[in-house]
Amino acid sequence: MNALAAYLQQSSREVETLLDSLLPSEQTRPAILHQAMRYSLFAGGKRLRPALCFAACEACGGTRDQAVRPAAALEVLHTYTLIHDDLPAMDNDDLRRGKPTCHKIYGEANAILAGDALLTLAFELLAGSDLEPARMVMELAKAAGSTGVIAGQVEDIANEGQALDEDTLRFIHRHKTGDLIRAAVRLGVIASGTDQALEPLTRYAEHVGLAFQIADDVLNATSDSDTLGKAVGSDAQRGKQTFVAFLGLEKARREAERLVHEAVALLGDLPGPTAPLNDLAWHVIRRDR
Ligand code: IPE
Ligand code: IPE
Ligand code: MG
Ligand code: MG
Repeated sequence: MNALAAYLQQSSREVETLLDSLLPSEQTRPAILHQAMRYSLFAGGKRLRPALCFAACEACGGTRDQAVRPAAALEVLHTYTLIHDDLPAMDNDDLRRGKPTCHKIYGEANAILAGDALLTLAFELLAGSDLEPARMVMELAKAAGSTGVIAGQVEDIANEGQALDEDTLRFIHRHKTGDLIRAAVRLGVIASGTDQALEPLTRYAEHVGLAFQIADDVLNATSDSDTLGKAVGSDAQRGKQTFVAFLGLEKARREAERLVHEAVALLGDLPGPTAPLNDLAWHVIRRDR
């Protein structure tokens, strides 16, 4: 196993251990709700946001322990966005993380409520953090709220089937995907207890976040659903605003690479190891799922 694969595995393990201990059991009433929450959360996501949070914290000289709560909160909030994104009223998808989507198994009402409960749990996790809980809550709330992820989701849906528009495309990608990746890195920095590298690492995260969604667009156009664990070809079918539709495959790939070059150039003088942030940035565009 290479260093990055080991890093991702360790990050997943630490976050999953914490989440398993904090989430109500599948028997806790209402059982169907807790089953739905656990079903989506433990369906085998890549856990890239937690890994970015750990890596940013360690690059700033912090310890993994300091980052585990925000890392778990990010994954919980991310999972809520996926459950709601897949609903019939939004992208109407049947497959997620290689399994039937939450609403396919538990019904729409329970999927909406499981999403609501995960969103709420994310803030409970941050509020229980030892270090700067109020600041962490503020950071995630801004990223996830009506000028963050939700803004991106609203415009993604509203612009389906509309003529391609570069400004709208960038707005959607920056918010629906970029803002949570930005928050992942910033929460890692905050968890480290020192703000010195907040500015360069925020810019690193903005480049990585956009590259991440471009890679998602490329995979939707080129992969297969067995590998990806979700539908392919659906962006074109629904007339989504994507970088592949806007630039074509080759230019979209090159744009993602350019962004990663810019991101890793920002990893200069940091007190801790930067190899994980470097490797994660490249992984974001080289991944096959
Ligand atoms: C998918 O995110 C949704 C986007 C924001 C593009 P991931 O590709 O990180 O999904 P999981 O967590 O591994 O399932
Ligand atoms: C997902 O965007 C973004 C959020 C869930 C906030 P997409 O709809 O493009 O992602 P996938 O392809 O379904 O994972
Ligand atoms: Mg969507
Ligand atoms: Mg979707």
